[in-house]
Amino acid sequence: MTFSGLSSLILALGAVQLSNAASIKRATCADGNTVTNAACCVLFPILEDIQTNLFDGGECGEEVHESLRLTFHDAIGFSPSRGGGGADGSLITFSEIETPFHANLGIDEIVEAQKPFVAKHNISAGDFIQFAGAVGVSNCPGAPRLQFFLGRPDAVAPAPDLTVPEPFDSVDSILARFADAGFSPAEVVALLASHTIAAADNVDPTVFTDRTPFDSTPSVFDSQFFVETQLRGTSFPGTAGNQGEVESPLRGEMRLQSDSEVYPRTACEWQSFVNNQSKLQSAFKAAMLKLSLVAQDKSKLVDCSDVIPVPPTLNAAAHFPAGLTKNDVEQACAATPFPALTTDPGPVTAVPPV
Ligand code: HEM
Ligand SMILES: *[C@@H]1O[C@H](CO)[C@@H](O)[C@H](O)[C@H]1NC(C)=O
Ligand SMILES: *[C@@H]1O[C@H](CO)[C@@H](O)[C@H](O)[C@H]1NC(C)=O
Repeated sequence: MTFSGLSSLILALGAVQLSNAASIKRATCADGNTVTNAACCVLFPILEDIQTNLFDGGECGEEVHESLRLTFHDAIGFSPSRGGGGADGSLITFSEIETPFHANLGIDEIVEAQKPFVAKHNISAGDFIQFAGAVGVSNCPGAPRLQFFLGRPDAVAPAPDLTVPEPFDSVDSILARFADAGFSPAEVVALLASHTIAAADNVDPTVFTDRTPFDSTPSVFDSQFFVETQLRGTSFPGTAGNQGEVESPLRGEMRLQSDSEVYPRTACEWQSFVNNQSKLQSAFKAAMLKLSLVAQDKSKLVDCSDVIPVPPTLNAAAHFPAGLTKNDVEQACAATPFPALTTDPGPVTAVPPV
């Protein structure tokens, strides 16, 4: 190439860069919000509506927890060999078929609660489910700011049954199901961080008035779930003998058999989340983005992540619940000792229902 040829190439490259810079200029929406892409402006009225009318004014409560669970149950509905459209909203579009699947027990509540919002706004069910999940998680102190991509087409068919893992499935079959949908064991552990803002309503039918949390702090996104799942189980919150449930270390706390079995299988990865808020956030954020895009063509979607609110920060260190210490840890990671944590002062307490 001649010198002048090279310099005109450099000039041309410079022009391309300039026009790229021009095209990512921020857009101002009719309501005054600014976004990177004007196509995302449609989301602000939906954001306001769900914060007020679905999430009780911006709480990290029951509807947020259920909405997060729904992002998973919709998205995991895909298998390369058995079909399903992944994060396509089929759990809402074909709710008569999918909500009766055994693994979806209890999901009908949030499906019915979300339907009017999908009907009212110009958004696909697949987009709405993932948007509501990302917005909902932003209400939980300590959570990462999840990403959101807009533009999923409507679901064309229901997901096949048996794509959603059950708490009584063997750890082999759980990890195989996730692998089939494209997730590594480390990504499964990251996704299970969701159980730090979670409770069970349907695992123990004898505790039917309230919901039983998976950790002692179900309204903040902290690493207590990873601490407490490593503590020796001593009792059931209700009765023994429920399918998919094992003993937990705290009165009032629910431990799923699946969590109790994924922990020793992934021991050092699981333990690495204890008291490491930045890892907890970054790994969950990355895994949730992947989950929100299962069987979707990302190149056809618009990145609207800047519409998602920034979650409140959390300044609490991981800790042992009152009465428990390092002696109660059932250490499964051989390579790294359990991190040094302090024990909460005061008398032993039960985890209140939510
Ligand atoms: C090993 C795989 C998993 C199993 C076996 C499992 C099982 C369960 C079960 C049995 C419940 C209680 C439901 C009820 O009684 O109402 C639950 C709740 C929940 N799960 Fe999972 N789960 C798994 C993975 C995930 C993933 C990947 C996510 C999200 C990314 C998730 C999010 C949630 C949330 C947020 C709740 C709480 C719902 C509420 O409080 O209403 N789970 N899970
Ligand atoms: C609804 O959204 C689509 C893009 O997803 C757009 O093409 C269409 O014009 C919108 N309709 C209304 C009534 O706003
Ligand atoms: C937290 O996790 C990150 C990422 O895996 C790691 O680099 C860092 O050393 C961890 N921090 C602590 C205090 O363990």
